[in-house]
Amino acid sequence: MNREIFRPNKEFSKNARIKNMCEYHELQDWATTDYEGFWGSYAKEKIDWIKPFDNVLDESNFPFVKWFIGGKLNVSAQCIDRHLGSRKNKAAIIFEGDRGDKQIITYLELSYNVNRFANLLKNEFDVKKGDRVVIYMPMIPEAAYAMLACARIGAIHSIVFGGFSAEALKDRIIDADAKVVITADGAFRKGIPYMLKPVVDEALAGETPVRKVLVVERNFEDITWVAGRDYSYNEIIKHQSVKCEPEVMDAEDPLFLLYTSGSTGKPKGVQHNQAGYILWAQMTMEWVFDVKENDTYWCTADVGWITGHTYIVYGPLAMGATTVMFEGVPTYPDAGRPWKMVEEYKINQFYTAPTAIRVLHKSGEDEPTKYDLSSLKVLGTVGEPIDPPAWKWYYEAVGGSRCPIVDTYWQTETGGHIISPLPGATPIKPACATFALPGIIAEILDENGVRAEVGEKGLMCVTRPWPSMIRGIWGDEERFVKSYFSDIKKDGKSVYFTGDGAVYDEDGYITITGRTDDVINVSGHRMGTAEVEAAIKKHPNVAEVAVVGKPHEIKGEGIFAYVVLKSDNGIADELEEMRAINDVIKKEIGNIAICDDILFTLGLPKTRSGKIMRRILRSIAKGEEITQDISTLEDPSIVAIIASAVQI
Ligand code: WTA
Repeated sequence: MNREIFRPNKEFSKNARIKNMCEYHELQDWATTDYEGFWGSYAKEKIDWIKPFDNVLDESNFPFVKWFIGGKLNVSAQCIDRHLGSRKNKAAIIFEGDRGDKQIITYLELSYNVNRFANLLKNEFDVKKGDRVVIYMPMIPEAAYAMLACARIGAIHSIVFGGFSAEALKDRIIDADAKVVITADGAFRKGIPYMLKPVVDEALAGETPVRKVLVVERNFEDITWVAGRDYSYNEIIKHQSVKCEPEVMDAEDPLFLLYTSGSTGKPKGVQHNQAGYILWAQMTMEWVFDVKENDTYWCTADVGWITGHTYIVYGPLAMGATTVMFEGVPTYPDAGRPWKMVEEYKINQFYTAPTAIRVLHKSGEDEPTKYDLSSLKVLGTVGEPIDPPAWKWYYEAVGGSRCPIVDTYWQTETGGHIISPLPGATPIKPACATFALPGIIAEILDENGVRAEVGEKGLMCVTRPWPSMIRGIWGDEERFVKSYFSDIKKDGKSVYFTGDGAVYDEDGYITITGRTDDVINVSGHRMGTAEVEAAIKKHPNVAEVAVVGKPHEIKGEGIFAYVVLKSDNGIADELEEMRAINDVIKKEIGNIAICDDILFTLGLPKTRSGKIMRRILRSIAKGEEITQDISTLEDPSIVAIIASAVQI
C-alpha cells in the first residue's frame, strides 16, 4: 500500500498551531498519560465559564458519561458575547445568496440579531429552557440566528435538512415532541424560487405537538398563513429588544438533537450537550483548519447536517472566525462559482465533500485556472471516502500543489473531527484520514477487540469517551447502548464503534474504507437501507424489497433496490412502476433517497430462516462474481436469475 506522501509546506508550518509531528506526539502523549489533565486544561483555557467545573470526567455510568461536571456556561455567549470586545466590527458571517446577493454580518450585528431572535422565541412563543424547537430552513443567516437563539435561551434545536419530505419532517417533530417550528417561505436554487413552508403545512396536518410556526420571508412567494399558528419573522422581529440575558446552562444540559440514519429502524435523534461539544468544535477548528485572526473560512455544507452545525456555525463562531454561508449550489451559474467566490472573498480555508469535488472536477476541470486562488491555505474534505483521482485534482488544480488537504473523518455522533491530518504537521497521503487527533484515543480493532494488523481491514473504534461524544439517542437509552457500545470490547471493556471499516498501512496511517453495516452514503448523506425499504414497502404493489448501495461515479454510492411485486398484479409498465416507487420515496423521505436502480425480481436470496442475504445483493449490484456460499439459501437458483437480470 505504498502511496505518495506530501509533506507540509514549510512556510505554513512555521506559523501553524501544531507545527510538526513531534508536537503532535507530545500532545497525544499528554492525553494518553493524563487524560483528565489534558482535557481539563483545554476546557479551562478555551471556554468562558459562568461557573468553573469541579471535575473533568465521570465515567462511572459508562457509556452515559459526564464531562466538566458542575461547570456552567452559555454556548451563544461563547460564540458571540465574548468577541464583542476586540472583534465587534469583525465579519462573523459572510452570506452569499444563490443569485449573488450578499450580506456581511459583524459580531455586533450577530449579537443584535440573535438576542432579538431569542427574545422572540421566549416572549412571543413561550419557549423555555429544555423545550425542543425544530428548524427547517434554507441556507440563510437566519438559520444560524435561530440555532444561536435556541442556545441562548437553553432550548434544544433539532434541525431537519430542507430536502426532507413532509412525512420525514413530521416524524422528527413528533419524536422530539417539538412545540415550535422555524422555517422560511422558501429560498432560491439555481436562480429560481423553491418552497419550504408548504412542506411544513403538510407535516403539521393532523395531530402534532407544534403550537407556533415562525416563517422567515426569503423569496416572498405566496404561502398560506394559519391564523394563531404562523407568524412572520420579518414582522415580529422588529419589536424585539436587542438584549436577552444568556440562560445559565449546565455543562451537560442538551444543546441540540440531530436525526441521523442507523442500520435499523427509524432515524435516531443524536443528542449533543453543551460544554464538551463546543469545546471540541472550537479546538478542531483551530487545529485542523488552523484559521488565523484575519482569515476567511468557507465550509460548503448545509446546516441540516452535522458538518453545518459544527463547522459553519458553532466551531467558527466559538473561535471568533469569519465564516462564509452560501445558499446556492456549486455549479450554478457554472462550475466556476466556488472559485469565483474564493477569489472574491479571498477565502483561506475551503471545506467541502468529495461529491462536490467530483462534480466540479467533471463539469469544470479547467475552471480553477480562470480565478486567483492564491489566498487558499488549507483544503478540507468530509463525509465519505475520497477517491485518489478527485483528491489529486483538488490538490493540484484547486490547491496549486501548495495547500494541505485535511481529509477529516468523523460522524454526527462524534460531534467533531476524530481522525484527520493537521495541516502544518502531518505528511499526508492521498485519500487518507491519517491519525487520531490529539485527545482522541482511537484504534482499529478486530471483532475480538484486538488491534488490527497492518493491511488487515478492521473496525474503527474510539476506546475512551471524549468530550463531544454523542450523549444519547433522544428517548431511547437502550438503542444508544446497543447501537454504539455493544459490538466490541477491548480488554473486557465496551468501546465506541463507529460502524466504519478502516485499515492501517505500514506507517500506521488510518484509511477509512466505508460502512460495515446497512448504512449507505449517498453524496455524503447517510441513508439507512432499512428506512428506504420501509418507504418502498408503502407502495401497495410491493411485496418485498431489499436495498443496497452501489458505487456511483459522482455520488460515491447510489441506491439499488431489488423489488418483488405482488404476484397477482404483475408489471404492466416497468418504467411507470419505477416512477411510482420513487414517488413513494420522495413522499416518505425526500428526493435525496430516490433509487438510481430498481430491479424487479421474482424473489430475494434468503436463508432458510428467512433472512435476506444482502451481501449477495451487494455483490450482484456491483457486478462482482458471487463467491459467497449460496448453498444455505432457501432457493439458490434465485441468485443466478437476479444476476442475469442485472447484466441485461
Ligand atoms: C463517512 C458526516 C471516509 C463515514 C461528518 C461516517 C467518511 C459517515 C469521512 C458519517 C471521511 C465521514 N472519509 N468516510 N473523511 N467522513 N465519512 O454522520 O462512513 O453524516 O460513518 O457525518 O460518513 O456521516 P455523518
